[in-house]
Order: sequence, then C-alpha cells, then structure tokens
Amino acid sequence: MTILGIDTSCDDTSAACIKDNKIISNIVLSQILHSKYGGVIPELAARDHIKNINNIVERAIDGIGFDNIDGIGVTYGPGLVGSLLVGLSFAKALSYVLKIPFYGVNHLEAHLFSLFADQELKIPFITLMVSGGHTELVVVREKGKYELIGTTLDDAAGEAIDKVARMLGFPYPGGPAIQELASSGNPKAIKFPRANVSGYDFSFSGLKTAVLYYLKNKCQLLDDDSKLPDIAASFQEAVCDVLVDKVLKASEEFKISRIGVVGGVAANLRLREKFNHTGVEVYFPKLEFCTDNAAMVALCAQFYFDKNENSPHTLKVNPRANFKTGITN
Ligand code: KG4
Ligand code: ZN
Repeated sequence: MTILGIDTSCDDTSAACIKDNKIISNIVLSQILHSKYGGVIPELAARDHIKNINNIVERAIDGIGFDNIDGIGVTYGPGLVGSLLVGLSFAKALSYVLKIPFYGVNHLEAHLFSLFADQELKIPFITLMVSGGHTELVVVREKGKYELIGTTLDDAAGEAIDKVARMLGFPYPGGPAIQELASSGNPKAIKFPRANVSGYDFSFSGLKTAVLYYLKNKCQLLDDDSKLPDIAASFQEAVCDVLVDKVLKASEEFKISRIGVVGGVAANLRLREKFNHTGVEVYFPKLEFCTDNAAMVALCAQFYFDKNENSPHTLKVNPRANFKTGITN
C-alpha cells in the first residue's frame, strides 16, 4: 500500500511517499525568498509552489513510479489560500488521471500524525501542537477523535518567536536563530512575563510586547550584540515555561501522563530538554518531522484510506480549518 502525501499549506513545498506506513521519501523545499521580508508573502508563496510542485513530487516518487501509488493525501487547510490551492488542485488532477482516491487532510491533524512517523505511541495522550500559526492543546482518546482543550488567545508560540527574532534582527523563520542565540545566553538574566491565562488557553502577545519594550527602553542594546544571547535565552525560557506548565496542568487534571509535542516549535532543544525533565512520558517527532513536511500528511491519509474515507473531487480548500471546524473534510 503506497500513499503519496503533498503539503503546500504555507511556505514549504513538500511531497512524500509512505509504503505500508513506512516513510520511503520526504522531500521538503523551504522557500527562502520570504526571509528578507520578515514573514511569508502569500502571493509569492503560491507562485513558488506552482514553480516547484512538479519537481518535488517527481523526486518523492523516484524509484516508485506513479503506477504504484494507491492513494494521495493532500493538505486542504488550514493555511494560505493560494498555497493550499496549488497542492489540492495538483492532487485532484493526479487522482483523476491515475484513477486513485485522494484524501483531504487537515494540516493540524497531520502534525499530530507526525508523532507516529518513527515511533510507537499508545493512546490516550495529550498533544501540544506548537507551530507558526497554532498553539493548541488536544486530548487524543482515539485516532480521528480529538478534544480541543486549549488554544492561543492571540499570537501562536511560533509567531511570537518569529516576531521577537525579527526585532533582534534575524530573518524569517526566527526559531532556529533564537535557539542558537539562546544557547550562549543566561535564561534567568531578564524576567520576562509568563501570561497567567485561566484554563488551558495561551497568550504570547504580552511576552512579545515585553521584549519590544525592553529593547526600546534599552535601545543601546541593539548596538551591543553581547546582550542579545541573554535576551533570546530569557525570552525562549518564558515561552517554554508557559508551554510546559500548561501541559503538566492538563496531564494532571485529565490523568493522562503521555504527552506528544508536535509542530515547528517542537524542534526547539530547550523545550525538549525542559519536557524531558518533567518526569512525564513525552514524545517528540524527529526534527525533520516537526516542521512542515508531507510525510505526516501521507501518514494521516493512510489512516483515512484504511477507513475507506476518501474525499470527493469537489473538496475545497479551507484556510481556516481547525480542530473546532472538524478534522476530516
Ligand atoms: O509547523 P511549522 O513548520 O509551520 C506551521 O505550520 O506554522 O512551524 C514553523 C514555526 C516557525 O514559527 C519557526 O520559527 C518555528 O516553527 N521553529 C522553531 C524552531 N524551528 C522552527 N521555533 C523554536 N525553535 C526551533 N528550533
Ligand atoms: Zn505546520
């Protein structure tokens, strides 16, 4: 059973093949053209997907061949409308020509499936999904059935990280730069605020603004590079503290001690370290499966393939799809 996965939800063009749930290929082309703008420019992203998708899919099926593909999984949302349209249209056309089913995959559910890319994980578990656009806390009692218990009230964790990185003069996406800078800084140097939101929701815009005011009030800091590692480390520590605390609270109250952390921010080494010191049973995907990739889309599609729940060719993109709008198309 071979599934081709395609993800063009944001600024990465990706295609992957899985055979009997094992990843055979996972090609990701990250669009570096956005870095100089400090964020993703939707129109440029869509155009770049159009330019690259043929080649990326061909590389993903190299040695496999179109004739040996049994189904296609493709992200239909959430994401940028123009970017999503490229992947979905491509997948529909391919499914039509090859006469094989296709599966519209929710990008958030795909991130959740990245946990199964290279490890066994027993259900139930709690998932913390931390990406550039989402910060969600989800109880997973069954694959395909999710209980959203918390979300961000403003900026996503990754969004705040990208914005702070920009303030410090680093290109988009800022996560890796913040992590690198923080590795030589003191996380206790500056006491940035940890938002105390009730329940399981998150808020990161206050923290982001605190960094902005810190920089404004001490504007000479930007001329003095030696202070940047302490700022990055203190900021990163605040983000990680908030994420870890909320997850531990949920773990205790829901009496579920298995935790899965997914999404681009799950690549953060300090976050991994902090979770590993909590004593809960925590699972992270390999780094290559944290940031956007099509292998996780193919894994999710395989689940719906096995249930015989393919999508109609009339399926539309849904840029705002989330855990509330329902996970399947
Ligand atoms: O999941 P993802 O690739 O795309 C979305 O679906 O949004 O996540 C991208 C986010 C960006 O905000 C990026 O800065 C962040 O993940 N990120 C990191 C790291 N690597 C990527 N944040 C912190 N530390 C990292 N090492
Ligand atoms: Zn993503």
